Amino acid sequence: MTVFQLIYASRPFGFDDLALSGILASAERNNVRDAITGSLICREDLFVQLLEGPEDKVEAAFKRIRHDDRHTDVGLVLSGATQSRLFPDWAMRHDPAQSWMWTRSEVTAGAVTKASADDVRAIFTRLAANEPAGALSCPFAVA
Ligand SMILES: Cc1cc2nc3c(=O)[nH]c(=O)nc-3n(C[C@H](O)[C@H](O)[C@H](O)COP(=O)(O)O)c2cc1C
Repeated sequence: MTVFQLIYASRPFGFDDLALSGILASAERNNVRDAITGSLICREDLFVQLLEGPEDKVEAAFKRIRHDDRHTDVGLVLSGATQSRLFPDWAMRHDPAQSWMWTRSEVTAGAVTKASADDVRAIFTRLAANEPAGALSCPFAVA
């Protein structure tokens, strides 16, 4: 069975732990209903989200998400059919950005928009091969 996969990147707007909890709560509720799974990479300067599931449900979720005012500069990285889910056990896993991803200065310099779709997908493939980093919430305090 093919699965529709979509990845986008965006910039958090007016963000804190409470807002993140709200996002994750509605994501989990809706995604269980819509058979969507995925992962949300987050840091105070960055969201990158992978959504996977039935095409119509993923497209509908992305339509809601891209109009959400809790982030800005939403840019589609890739979308299309794939053979299997990367995060079959997660309605929405939240993954704090890791040191091996982009630094803050790289993000500021536009590294995410310059990255290829394959590079960004490879980040999620690497995340999926490991347990979540263990943080209960994404670290939004500026280091
Ligand atoms: C970064 C980010 C990620 C989100 N991820 C999801 C998601 O995976 N699924 C979802 O339904 N809503 C997600 N949302 C929330 C949607 O934008 C929207 O608020 C929500 O789907 C509305 O659902 P409701 O009508 O049940 O409140 C996300 C929002 C943001 C800012």
